[in-house]
Amino acid sequence: MVSSRHMLCGAAAVVGLLGHAHNVVAGKHETRCCSMKPPATSGKWNTLSGQWPQLVGHRGEKAFLPEHTVASYWQAALEKADYIEPDLTLTKDGHLVVNHNEWLGENTNVASIPELAHLRTSKTWNDGGGNVTVANEWFVVDMTLEQIRKLRVHQDHKYPWRPAHFDGVFGLPTFEEYLQTVRNVTQLLGRPYGVIPELKSPQLYNRGRSYPRYFEDRALLVLEHYGWATVNNVNRSAHADLVLQTPLPVDGALGPRAVQCFDLDTAEYLAQHSDVPVVALVQSLPWVFTPGGLDRVASYAAILSPWKDFFVAGAEPYFRASNITWDAAEIQNLGGFIQPTRLVAEAHKRNLALSPYTFYDSHQDRAYLCQTGGAKGFCPRSRQEELYYFFELGTDYLFVENIVEATLLRSQFNDSLHSSKLTYPLSWCAHGP
Ligand SMILES: *[C@@H]1O[C@H](CO)[C@@H](O)[C@H](O)[C@H]1NC(C)=O
Ligand SMILES: *[C@@H]1O[C@H](CO)[C@@H](O)[C@H](O)[C@H]1NC(C)=O
Ligand SMILES: *[C@@H]1O[C@H](CO)[C@@H](O)[C@H](O)[C@H]1NC(C)=O
Ligand SMILES: *[C@@H]1O[C@H](CO)[C@@H](O)[C@H](O)[C@H]1NC(C)=O
Ligand SMILES: *[C@@H]1O[C@H](CO)[C@@H](O)[C@H](O)[C@H]1NC(C)=O
Repeated sequence: MVSSRHMLCGAAAVVGLLGHAHNVVAGKHETRCCSMKPPATSGKWNTLSGQWPQLVGHRGEKAFLPEHTVASYWQAALEKADYIEPDLTLTKDGHLVVNHNEWLGENTNVASIPELAHLRTSKTWNDGGGNVTVANEWFVVDMTLEQIRKLRVHQDHKYPWRPAHFDGVFGLPTFEEYLQTVRNVTQLLGRPYGVIPELKSPQLYNRGRSYPRYFEDRALLVLEHYGWATVNNVNRSAHADLVLQTPLPVDGALGPRAVQCFDLDTAEYLAQHSDVPVVALVQSLPWVFTPGGLDRVASYAAILSPWKDFFVAGAEPYFRASNITWDAAEIQNLGGFIQPTRLVAEAHKRNLALSPYTFYDSHQDRAYLCQTGGAKGFCPRSRQEELYYFFELGTDYLFVENIVEATLLRSQFNDSLHSSKLTYPLSWCAHGP
């Protein structure tokens, strides 16, 4: 998987990994970054497929429109995302509704609706990474679909630079409305789009249901109904109440599909009960970032989706900074932590694709440890440096915001692979030895 473009510069592995020898900067031909080979004139992407990486519109296009609204999905489609991401939650009366949080106060007007005031409460649940407690909020799982329909979505006020013209206009879509929207844009824009739902907190949504995998099965059955899955060995009789619309026809093929979860027990279940490629999301499990851990995940998942700093700072600095402890003997037995620049090659060896998250819009802090001095080494100082680093590594999918900008950078990088006239910025060489 590692092409000849990956020439290491002695100890400066990260810099070397990224370096191309020649760079045209303002008409001046420079040689930089150790003794690198010139770029190949017919370079290839280092992804598993050899094709360029797939860009996933994170929560639709949240840089410009309130996330997880039909408008946000349309915007992602217009920007030609390869996949459009929804997050799945479940109402009290069993409807799959799209929202990122299990709670509603940050992105909706729930607090201003008097008839929902009595539903304000606190909850603790295990989200797959550990116990979380959220206090004094309104939760999707306590509401009926009819109550959810009263809500209007707005931009998260933590990000004041995001356009707010559409605050208060759109409601939360159901999973069905998301899937029908993707079918509609496929038909109307004449281009297939991938679906990639994330199941949020299965342990919360399965509590008190008629049997243990109620949430997973319900999500798979809806995906199947809209043409994106074949489901096997699930309790269909438990979902006799599920009344689904008839999907509108699409001329030509639907786009690809995948299903994501942080709860790896659910991820494994989804792989066993459907033909849908599974994305194992990981941010808090040290054992995953070892050779033995990758073997285990690759036994059921098609894609590993770690927080992006596992490729920059690496596992050990990241877990230390996050106060996540690990059993040193267990990590040793699994082969030790994999170095950040080796993670792609080690995963690809196991036929496991990679999908780091999240590449934020350019206004937002990129949120690497190195930005605060929390880890040494390469530190992306712009969105271009960041994306080019991941393009060079060969990560297969990227969760992105401001999709059109990411798309332009991908095309520019692609041109640089095929041309000796590089547009490839080597400013990160300044971080070299
Ligand atoms: C999470 O909460 C459950 C139930 O309250 C408890 O039994 C468990 O020990 C907690 N787990 C962690 C890691 O704190
Ligand atoms: C999909 O398109 C049909 C036909 O134009 C329309 O009736 C329907 O409301 C659309 N669905 C969504 C979820 O946008
Ligand atoms: C399937 O679901 C039904 C209805 O909720 C339940 O009664 C039954 O026990 C379930 N079967 C299994 C095998 O879980
Ligand atoms: C980790 O623990 C230290 C010391 O208790 C604390 O200052 C820091 O905020 C914690 N970091 C995180 C990410 O929780
Ligand atoms: C990347 O660039 C090459 C050479 O210009 C071109 O043939 C190819 O179609 C481009 N890749 C994509 C996916 O467009």
